[in-house]
Amino acid sequence: MRRYRIALVPGDGIGKEVIPAGRQVLEALAATTSGALEFAFESYPWGGDYYRAHGVMMPADGLEALKDKDAILFGSAGDPEIPDHITLWGLRLKICQGLDQYANVRPTRILPGIDAPLKRCRPEDLDWVIVRENTEGEYSGAGGRVHKGFPMEVAAEVSVMTRAGVERIQRYAFQLAASRPRKMLTVVTKSNAQRHAMVMWDEIAAEVARDFPGVKWDKEMVDAMTARMVNRPASLDTIVATNLHADILTDLAAALAGSLGIAPTANINPERVHPSMFEPIHGSAFDIMGKGTANPVATFWTAAMMLEHLGENEAARRLMKAVETVTANPKLHTRDLGGTATTADVTDAVCSAISAARTPLATA
Ligand code: IPM
Ligand code: MG
Repeated sequence: MRRYRIALVPGDGIGKEVIPAGRQVLEALAATTSGALEFAFESYPWGGDYYRAHGVMMPADGLEALKDKDAILFGSAGDPEIPDHITLWGLRLKICQGLDQYANVRPTRILPGIDAPLKRCRPEDLDWVIVRENTEGEYSGAGGRVHKGFPMEVAAEVSVMTRAGVERIQRYAFQLAASRPRKMLTVVTKSNAQRHAMVMWDEIAAEVARDFPGVKWDKEMVDAMTARMVNRPASLDTIVATNLHADILTDLAAALAGSLGIAPTANINPERVHPSMFEPIHGSAFDIMGKGTANPVATFWTAAMMLEHLGENEAARRLMKAVETVTANPKLHTRDLGGTATTADVTDAVCSAISAARTPLATA
């Protein structure tokens, strides 16, 4: 019997709707394994409501509570009444940086039944994984404000890149590229304009590349990269970029694959010293929260990434298969995909598809 301790952090907005949906499909999956696979969930009520009650997004000992878990399933952080930099730094970044989840991994594919916006792009032309540096760079938090409120006010937002930080993310990306069938990596840069840190970034990429002779790699400026993603999607496979560059490119990637409501993320601590965290990309989406119309597919896909990370590859495959059966049916599309299905409709359909699949999981 394999039993995993999973921390659930629904957070804010539609996070509170999609995380319970994620739990439901994981339970449905476990139920088909005759006890071979089990999840022990523990929920943490952190986020905007917690902030209103306690003045912080999560308690001071919150990270400690997460450390003994096998993985974390996270919804979103963001609240209309609280400044975004407080919700972000007080919860999500605190967890990512505090648990050294330095590799943010964002796969993009056009799932069956999804109408993607690019005219000439076939589903097989778009199969990417974007690796985002997740602990430093433009999100290092270094900087400050001087002369606040006076005409001479100054604000500095310093992007900090360390050799160790750049090397470990490049190595992770090269390794991932080597494990994928096409063995291709595109290193995104901006070393023409950003002549210090990004030049170091390029140099380190070239150094790490020597350890991966089997990986075919190239370099692309971030601005040109947006055009290449639209015009030549099939020329890309694995991609590595800095924290902010990848933040922007992954929203573009999600839109090109049909909806932000589908895109998953894994915040990985590759050394497994600390648990990794899995979340949908979409954020709290206040405009639709409480309506039961949020698309839970991003959460299901990220739950599949969590299973893979735990070594449960067969369970992950089954979950994705169930998800793809459901996306293939336009009647089960939520509003972001132009449909009218609810979160509950999609969740129930995925659970039924899981239960209907005949082959039980191995009881190893
Ligand atoms: C993401 C999001 C966050 C980020 C937001 C919510 C601050 O856009 O995960 O991509 O910029 O990292
Ligand atoms: Mg983003």
